[in-house]
Amino acid sequence: MPSRKFFVGGNWKMNGDKETLGELIMTLNTASLNDETEVVCGAPTIYLDYVRSKLDQRIGVAAQNCYKVPKGAFTGEISPAMIKDCGVDWVILGHSERRHVFGESDELIGQKVAHCLENGLGVIACIGEKLEEREAGITEDVVYEQTRVIADNVKDWASVVLAYEPVWAIGTGKTATPAQAQEVHEQLRGWLRGNVSDAVADSVRIIYGGSVTGGNCNELAAQADVDGFLVGGASLKPEFVDIINARS
Ligand code: PGA
Repeated sequence: MPSRKFFVGGNWKMNGDKETLGELIMTLNTASLNDETEVVCGAPTIYLDYVRSKLDQRIGVAAQNCYKVPKGAFTGEISPAMIKDCGVDWVILGHSERRHVFGESDELIGQKVAHCLENGLGVIACIGEKLEEREAGITEDVVYEQTRVIADNVKDWASVVLAYEPVWAIGTGKTATPAQAQEVHEQLRGWLRGNVSDAVADSVRIIYGGSVTGGNCNELAAQADVDGFLVGGASLKPEFVDIINARS
């Protein structure tokens, strides 16, 4: 197995309230978690401060989005500086719901990646093809182009985790097979090797997202280039603990 530290992100999306998230936090705080796994929970913006104050420090917290400048007249947006002010160290950028529900472009996502990294946030950068793109046989082209725009905005890859999330697998119950996930992860690592460096290709965590559950996580985690997960629905349930411990 490679030496990359296994990384499991929870993406709570626009779910929960103080009561239910408080219960989830209690479950996580008292669970036996593999300390070889880095765990980060993506909380709704309004609960970032609350979650950071309640969640055990061995678990990181992520914002689910942020803007590309430090401050100003951008109603409804938040900056990396504000995220850090709440004690939060990570942000999820380029999630498929940001791309396809809110129309974020590759260019905007790239600008956000640059600004967040410059301001000391770790970035979980998401990429992934739509069903029609997979069926048209252009998965590689799509994910390479998305990765290229991200890579153009990264100076130091130490704070970047790349999340491959096929859009057709997100929230659908249609998980990529371990072979499908491994194939794209291997291609992405090859792209990094050819276009960035051997050191980055060897060290960057490439995590899989899309209908990961307690039932399918072990087989996915056993793939050589799957370095963890970004988990939506199942991250709100106690089975998230099983996913965190998938490599145990
Ligand atoms: P899912 O979501 O696990 O509910 O498919 C994954 C994600 O959107 O990150």
